[in-house]
Amino acid sequence: MTSQHQRPIPLLLTGLVVTLLGIVGTRAEEPTSPPASEPLVVDQRGPTIKAAYKDYFLIGTAGDMPGRYSDQEMGLVKEHFNIVTPENCMKPGPIHPSENTWRFERPDALVEWCEDNNIAVHGHTLVWHAQTNDWFFRDGDKAAVTQRMKDHISTLVGRYKGKIRGWDVVNEAINDGGNAQTARTENLRSSSWLRAMGPEFLTLAFKFAHEADPEAKLYYNDYGIETGPKHASSMVLLKRLINEGAPIHGVGIQGHWSTGRIPYAALDKAISDYASLGLEVSITELDVTIRGASGGQFGRGFGGRRFGGDAPPAPQDLKAQADAYARLFSIFVKHKEVIRRVTFWGLSDRRTWRFGQHPLIFDSNNQRKPAYAAIVDALLHPNPDLAAPR
Ligand code: XIL
Repeated sequence: MTSQHQRPIPLLLTGLVVTLLGIVGTRAEEPTSPPASEPLVVDQRGPTIKAAYKDYFLIGTAGDMPGRYSDQEMGLVKEHFNIVTPENCMKPGPIHPSENTWRFERPDALVEWCEDNNIAVHGHTLVWHAQTNDWFFRDGDKAAVTQRMKDHISTLVGRYKGKIRGWDVVNEAINDGGNAQTARTENLRSSSWLRAMGPEFLTLAFKFAHEADPEAKLYYNDYGIETGPKHASSMVLLKRLINEGAPIHGVGIQGHWSTGRIPYAALDKAISDYASLGLEVSITELDVTIRGASGGQFGRGFGGRRFGGDAPPAPQDLKAQADAYARLFSIFVKHKEVIRRVTFWGLSDRRTWRFGQHPLIFDSNNQRKPAYAAIVDALLHPNPDLAAPR
């Protein structure tokens, strides 16, 4: 009874074919290293994440396929994911660099490749403060900027009508930070869109998108909206959009997090809050870094060599990351009635905007990481404690 050996090992990864290399057979002679610092070996052939979650929600990846992807990477996308979000090629900057210039080559190739391979596409993104060229706002009064927005949305959404199942219509309109006072307001970011068109820019963007493709599921997408004053502001904003008759169907919680700093309880509640407004929810840009910065902000100083480049992560970090992913997916499963899609922001620890921080479920050599196995295991061997976050 009291024997140490009979206590279950508190590993979320138990039940998986996860072997601690170098332990077996050598333990008596070399008891020096604790198991967590030994490399974790993950079964590469178990059920795929897409198959495991097929009755729950879509499993996505972001990227600008086929582009410069290797055959092995393309194979990975086909085998493990059933929906793709273009990472950059449909953003206003790349696709519509000036008023009379459209660059459809890469987006067309992506949509065609996905169609050929029976993979759905989620469009990203129509109206954003970043990766949007100045011509939209130059010398324009409200009417002129509104017309440019309308032309942009009608052309883009119209072109892929019936081929792209949903769109991030407005991305990241709410300010970071916030306090008790801003929590009672929408606390909109002072973007060029807001300055030119006022708060109505959001409602109009949704209306234009809906006119261009009445079947498309239209999303408001943002980071950090699951917690704190920013969550409160998101509720104020969404209620206003609904009241104004904006054709909005869902909220995208981006999900740029960092191991050890995930607001599980707030996330659990935020999903219920959005559902209470009659909206569906997707996790749209999931990545969980094991070191360094997280959050949706970008600019200089994230990723790259600063965090060790491609140096392999420590086994205990991979284990902690796997546990974090298992907890997240346990929460998503609990909310399966409202969650439509969980999309990872990138394909592998090589194909990620957080390069060097090892945030994804495939490593730099396209191998399944412990996180991958833990996510599948969270469904096959559910642990109710994980879905009741503290
Ligand atoms: C990022 C891309 O991953 C990078 O390649 C690009 O340089 C900058 O944008 N929130 C979003 C995404 O909505 O569009 C951003 O993608 C990451 C943060």
